[in-house]
This record gives sequence, structure tokens and C-alpha cells, in this order.
Amino acid sequence: MPDVTGDHYFTAEPTIPAQPREVEFSVAGRDYTLASASGVFSATRLDPGTAVLLRKADLPAPDTTGPLLDVGCGFGPITCVLASTAPAATVWAVDVNQRARDLTAANAARVGAARRVRVAAPDDVPADLAFAEIWSNPPIHIGKAELHELLLRWLPRLAPDGVAWLVVARHLGGDSLHRWLVEQGWQVDRHASQKGFRVLRVTR
Ligand SMILES: C[S@@+](CC[C@H](N)C(=O)[O-])C[C@H]1O[C@@H](n2cnc3c(N)ncnc32)[C@H](O)[C@@H]1O
Repeated sequence: MPDVTGDHYFTAEPTIPAQPREVEFSVAGRDYTLASASGVFSATRLDPGTAVLLRKADLPAPDTTGPLLDVGCGFGPITCVLASTAPAATVWAVDVNQRARDLTAANAARVGAARRVRVAAPDDVPADLAFAEIWSNPPIHIGKAELHELLLRWLPRLAPDGVAWLVVARHLGGDSLHRWLVEQGWQVDRHASQKGFRVLRVTR
């Protein structure tokens, strides 16, 4: 279980005091120091699954304009890496947790991407947007049916030639999720496997 204090990390309005923190990590030769707080997922360090995703998946090309989508942004590590790696791209960061959304907005400003990062609750993403890339360390702990519902909601929002990158721990069902996605008609490659995490590349 990730290091979540008090409420579930996917609580809409965490009630425990925020206890501000900073999380430091490096991806693709760039150092990040992001704001975090209790009540959000992996508040004290970059989640190991997210670290594998960001180091193994193909980061967007520098000239990508997107739009890109981070489903379940937490305090925003994936969003900030995408926005930094693709400095012309618009990145949508979606989460049910208000504190996570606030932190992601603050962190987008920290990395100089405030104008290109759109932080939103799931229902506030414009229905007509098609995403060039969808990235997610999805919330496995919401339950299998809810996770499937989440993926069935967002994966169809990929542009025709879009690609989704997912990371799932093998012991939390990474391989069965892979099989389920294939059953749903998606093309799924196990792009990488490291430290017990599967990095799945999903296309139409
Ligand atoms: C495994 S965490 C990943 C957080 C962050 N991307 C990271 O890598 O540290 C999953 C996130 O999904 C969010 N979440 C849970 N249910 C959701 C839903 N239905 N729609 C969008 N986000 C959701 C949680 O609040 C949590 O922040």
C-alpha cells in the first residue's frame, strides 16, 4: 500500500491537515522539486511505479503539442515531467482529489508550465478533446470494476494515432489488466517490466 496518511488518497476532500512537504526526483537528466502534502498519493517520495513509468516509457517528443492527459495526477509528478519534456504541449491533469489538483497546479507553476497545464476534476474536461497521449499510474485501490470504468472512460479519448502509457504493479494485477485491455480490443505491449511493475503501451 502506498504511503497514504489518514484518508484514502482518492478522497475528494482530504480532511487530515495538509502537512506540506517536498518531493525530489530526477527524470531524463532533469531535477524536480515538487510540493506535496499528506492526503495525496505517495506524499513523501516519487512512487516507485511512477518512477519506473517515467524512466521506461517513451517521453513525448519535444515538439509535441498534445494535448496530453495525466489520469489521476496526484501531486503532479507525471504532469510536470510531461510539461517539461514537451515545452509546447498542453497537459491536462485530472484527479478526484481536490488537494491533489491544487498541488499539481502549484507544481505546474514551479516548473514554469502554469499556462499549459490544465488541472481539472474528471467531469470538467471538455468532451471534444482527443488526446495525443494518455499517461497514468492508475488508482488500483479503487477496485477492479471502478478501475475498468476509469479506463473505459479515458482510453476512448485517445486520438486515432494516440498512445497511452500505464504502469501497474504485477502483484496488483498488472498482467490481468493487460489481458482485460486486449479483450476490450486495445493493442497492448508490455513495453517494460522492472521492480515488479509493468509498463503497458496501449494503442488502438
Ligand atoms: C496511483 S495514484 C497516482 C498519482 C500520481 N500520478 C503519481 O504518480 O504520484 C492515482 C491517483 O488517481 C486518483 N483517482 C482516483 N480515482 C480517480 C478517478 N475516478 N478519476 C481520476 N483520478 C482518480 C487518486 O486520487 C490518485 O491521486
